[in-house]
Amino acid sequence: MKIFSGIQPTGAKHLGNYSGGFRQYAATQEQGDAFFCIVDLHSVTVPHDPEDLRTRTLDLAALMFATGLDPERSTVFVQSHVTAHAEAAWLLGCVATIGELRRMTQFKDKAGTRESVSVGLFTYPVLMAGDILLYQTDIVPIGDDQRQHLELSRDIAERFNSRFGKTFTVPRGVYPEAGARIMDLQEPGNKMSTTGGNPQGTIYLLDPPEAVRKKVKTAVTDSGREVVHDTNEKAGISNLIEIMTVATGESITEVESRYESAGYGQFKSDVGDAVVELLAPIQARYHELRDDSAELERMLTHGATKAREASAPTLEKMYERMGFTRPKGE
Ligand code: AMP
Ligand code: TRP
Repeated sequence: MKIFSGIQPTGAKHLGNYSGGFRQYAATQEQGDAFFCIVDLHSVTVPHDPEDLRTRTLDLAALMFATGLDPERSTVFVQSHVTAHAEAAWLLGCVATIGELRRMTQFKDKAGTRESVSVGLFTYPVLMAGDILLYQTDIVPIGDDQRQHLELSRDIAERFNSRFGKTFTVPRGVYPEAGARIMDLQEPGNKMSTTGGNPQGTIYLLDPPEAVRKKVKTAVTDSGREVVHDTNEKAGISNLIEIMTVATGESITEVESRYESAGYGQFKSDVGDAVVELLAPIQARYHELRDDSAELERMLTHGATKAREASAPTLEKMYERMGFTRPKGE
């Protein structure tokens, strides 16, 4: 089984990224041949600071290893180190249609508020489809916000296969049962997010314990008293229940029954403690790894070599099936 996922090296990573991303990466790497990609090419689709991109790429690599990715088992690499990704994006961009890209809600949300929108922001899902398809991926562990992009990748794969002959495995998205969409603690109607969110409602993975406890304690909840999961009527409490499941590994029902006779105050205080406990070893390991940039760069170079080898045959097949002549080895 082939596993692939990507994560952007921009913005401080938060508990939503842990739930839909990191935690699933570490779990799925046990199931087969896994590739995890730091998608730096995706991060330049909105205005960015070059120095920041360089630093954050290494920050993210450290966080990926700190949350449990094993460099011996998984291939962890940077997208721009493997040129097949940019090439695949061009070829697939001639298979995807403007109509389907226009329907992407993330593009509409991100483009809506900007005066100037890059072509890259529009074609971003095509780059993502290439990422996935180059590795003959079976499963893609992601959060709910990437569902539409994943469906588009499947459509593109099927269209390419029927037009040019079977070339790609059609991938399947894997979403966590609880915590596929962690919400902002201050605005439980919106997902927790680096770009659109409220910093007081966003638990960053590198937040100190006191900040985590305070954010959870001041989370917006309804005026009821029961700790029960009901996303329509009790968005805030439901979100905290899901956060508790992420931190402890319990199910939603287990959390509900544990707090059957407790009030919101006790529950919130325990959620804060559970998140602090989850993050403490991750933060310690992160700082250890981040202090040795040369070692991180070495690990990423090794990952890029493996990813180049794994993606080359599919890229070659794409060119051949589409009718390109190929240079012969000299
Ligand atoms: P990004 O940082 O945008 O590259 O996202 C990395 C991963 O985190 C993707 O799989 C997203 O689907 C996931 N993710 C982002 N925000 C959330 C959220 N609020 N809840 C759950 N998963 C999320
Ligand atoms: N678009 C994804 C996000 O913003 C990141 C991403 C890029 C990705 N390529 C991918 C995720 C391939 C899964 C598979 O979160």
